[in-house]
Amino acid sequence: MSNMDQEKAIAARLSDISSVDTAIILGTGLGVMEEDIQVNKIIPYEDIPGFPRTSVKGHTGRLIFGSLENHDIVAMSGRFHLYEGYTPKEITLPIRIFKLMGINNLFISNAAGGLRPDLKPGGIMLIIDHINSTGQSPLIGPNNEEIGPRFPDMTKPYTPEFIRKAVLVAKDENIDLKQGVYVQVLGPSMETASETRMLRVLGADAVGMSTVMEVIQARHCGMNVLAISAITNNNDPDDYKPAPLKKVIEMAGVAGPSIIKIFKGVLRDISN
Ligand code: HPA
Repeated sequence: MSNMDQEKAIAARLSDISSVDTAIILGTGLGVMEEDIQVNKIIPYEDIPGFPRTSVKGHTGRLIFGSLENHDIVAMSGRFHLYEGYTPKEITLPIRIFKLMGINNLFISNAAGGLRPDLKPGGIMLIIDHINSTGQSPLIGPNNEEIGPRFPDMTKPYTPEFIRKAVLVAKDENIDLKQGVYVQVLGPSMETASETRMLRVLGADAVGMSTVMEVIQARHCGMNVLAISAITNNNDPDDYKPAPLKKVIEMAGVAGPSIIKIFKGVLRDISN
């Protein structure tokens, strides 16, 4: 079976479950969102042939099918990172499957380090553009015109209508929603002070180790994207402090509820 046939087979199997319009990637700190979903079905990744497995111990990845704000949604609990050794194609397989299932909206959350002084731990940042600093892409290799064009446009990777709606929801809910540019680095080592300076000069406002691969794939296949970072640490190269995983997880937990409110508000505001 070719990769495309395999992906179509997985999508066909999953499409039997429900007609989903929105996929949500639950980044660090958004696990609690599972409690808001009226669950129809949970499928562990290991039950989906061809699906990558998460390497994080004690955390089986799973797809959660259910409804949220009158939308049929699927949430990815557990995502894949380049630093785990997955290829960009493996990391973005779920996105291609979602598209083949007829899903057109992709909501993404992640944990990120703030590079701008006003991006403080526990805050959130709407991603309005990105910098791919990984040197990698899920689109390397022959292009499948059935999915999208060889040279996909990246003038507006984050859907302007979703950005507008997210800003309105934040205003309504009294959430201090910052906006900025997210840079994906390879990891897993954190940035040096000099790398932090470099990323600031490049125009990045927040740095993390995910999301850009998924967004490139989603845009290639024409999906609408909304992405928000949970700011877990602030990286000031002149007063640089470590950001241990414990702090990242704790602060993502502080930011999580605001991201959930915005995702839910935007969902309420878009038609199925
Ligand atoms: N750097 C890279 N990835 C991250 C950071 C950071 O400071 N914080 C959370 N994820």
